[in-house]
Amino acid sequence: MSNYHIKNLKEYFNVYEKSVKEPEVFWEEIAEEHFLWHKRWDNVLSWDFTKPEIKWFENAQLNITENCIDRHLRTKKDQTAILFEPNSPSEDALHISYGVLHDKVNQMANVLKSKGVKKGDRVCVYLPMIPELAYTVLACARIGAVHSVVFAGFSASAVATRIVDSDCKIVVTSDGANRGAKTIDLKGIVDEALKSCPGVETVLVAKRIHTEIHMQSGRDYWLAPLTESASTECAPEIMDAEDPLFILYTSGSTGKPKGMVHSSGGYMVYTAFTFKNVFQYREGDVYWCTADIGWITGHSYILYGPLANGATTVMFEGIPSYPDCGRFWEIVEKHKVNQFYTAPTAIRALAKEDLKFVEKYDLSSLKVLGTVGEPINEEAWHWYNDNIGNKNSPIVDTWWQTETGGIMISPIPYATPTIPTFATLPLPGIQPALMDENGKEIAGNQVEGRLCIKFPWPSIARTIWGNHQRYQDTYFSAFKNAYFTGDGARRDAAGYYRITGRVDDVIIVSGHNLGTAPIEDTINEHPAVAESAIVGFPHDIKGNALYGFVILKDTGADRDQLRKEINQLISEHVGPIAKLDKVQFTDGLPKTRSGKIMRRILRKIAGGDTSNIGDTSTLLNPEVVQSIMDEVI
Ligand code: WTA
Repeated sequence: MSNYHIKNLKEYFNVYEKSVKEPEVFWEEIAEEHFLWHKRWDNVLSWDFTKPEIKWFENAQLNITENCIDRHLRTKKDQTAILFEPNSPSEDALHISYGVLHDKVNQMANVLKSKGVKKGDRVCVYLPMIPELAYTVLACARIGAVHSVVFAGFSASAVATRIVDSDCKIVVTSDGANRGAKTIDLKGIVDEALKSCPGVETVLVAKRIHTEIHMQSGRDYWLAPLTESASTECAPEIMDAEDPLFILYTSGSTGKPKGMVHSSGGYMVYTAFTFKNVFQYREGDVYWCTADIGWITGHSYILYGPLANGATTVMFEGIPSYPDCGRFWEIVEKHKVNQFYTAPTAIRALAKEDLKFVEKYDLSSLKVLGTVGEPINEEAWHWYNDNIGNKNSPIVDTWWQTETGGIMISPIPYATPTIPTFATLPLPGIQPALMDENGKEIAGNQVEGRLCIKFPWPSIARTIWGNHQRYQDTYFSAFKNAYFTGDGARRDAAGYYRITGRVDDVIIVSGHNLGTAPIEDTINEHPAVAESAIVGFPHDIKGNALYGFVILKDTGADRDQLRKEINQLISEHVGPIAKLDKVQFTDGLPKTRSGKIMRRILRKIAGGDTSNIGDTSTLLNPEVVQSIMDEVI
């Protein structure tokens, strides 16, 4: 029996049980039946969470692009693989068939090769949501180069940090990006970033907004003339299942971003399997995930998962509010979208708008709705269910992480009964555990704890680029023999999971993970600032917004001016997304005796919940708490 496509609850429970009792047999059957391998594995899984070392499908050989493109050519050459919907509705959508995708990816692969890119080299991809982004990512995979996609909303210094960390010699970018009514000068940002990246030898530039830009001779090349003259055939590089496919950076609670490294074989198997089940994708469906390919959601569920299943996947360049707040729904009607996957922050923003933006459109094609990236609040869930799903499209609240590569806890639509705010049940192969503060697993239901995973799954990130020790410290040291997610969760009487949010110093703003440390470091660079602490506070649309407590060296300074300067610095160093909504200047910060800032107290103050501030007796300076509360802005 194939366990690849689960269609009802009974089947889910059977498959789940098998996946836990005999994980290796379970994944082996799926890998064998549904993918193209050049060589079979010698061993399905070897793992040791103490080292930590995890290997799936050891010594197997494959190329993921053959699985995502070539093998569909026989039956789907003319079927749309990627349906590109431009920023402006007045520009026509582009149907990129599997046949065309094959040619474009191979041309791009040949261009990369002609610029000296080889198997194992890292390629920085800093592109907006245009077809060249998909081609470049897949072209890297074609030739075994490791793509490192950097979200095209990041600042020059964030781009530079990522380029330097993974030692990229080449950057693929564009002259600019469309973002609603605005354009963004991407090439200018790259030029600025490259001032501190001496290792970059080549920059390939796609044309999108057709503005005059600076091209540095000998380094910068327009992409189109190169791809147009390149061959549409490029033999796929044969990769080991454990060879890295890509690096994707995610924020940590301390210091610089973590370059999570994903594998070729396990990642493919798991993203393909979860895509099929979580979205109940059927032949001929049109699937749309609104994420940006700069994030893991775009990697796994715009590109690799859907394409491995021969699906039609929509790629949208624009934003939900341009030219008006009906844009998502207009696109759903226009392309008769069957599965729609977005972030709670987008739902909350659109729910604030007049319902006429929804009612104008025929949304009857929708069969499955999804959310990802942060907890969805009940109100947003109901709005989505009532107005978009017309109460008959199940909502899959999918919990997962950059590190997990694929969806971990989620309903299976039309199988798992949903409850608002619950991600519900673990997918096959996923063994969650809730841990208490002493590192002990909490048994039974109706309990709450720190969410860990006790057994490896095929798409778990294998390391942090260049820093395996940090990988171990961050994920495998808090609890013995388990991967620690950094999230808290509750398990209800039926065994359903509800994710309660981060338990570390990562704050999720509009679905973007932001570590507090890099923002604080940036603020502290301002000459007038002595020290700072950032916490999140609830925000209607963003989920969380940032609240900064800042101690000044000179208390007489112009505070409004300082607020502007601090946000300007953050914009330049981290990105506009990390700007503070509130800045409170204060004389002190609550600290433990070991000098650690007690963020728990600051979070309460920022959230306006000062009635029960909790125990302050362990503080070095308990008196500071009252004075911060008195000054609240
Ligand atoms: C949060 C995004 C609640 C969580 C795929 C996780 C969620 C972090 C959900 C990872 C959800 C993601 N419900 N919280 N359905 N999905 N999260 O790496 O805190 O950008 O640890 O990956 O987002 O964010 P990342």
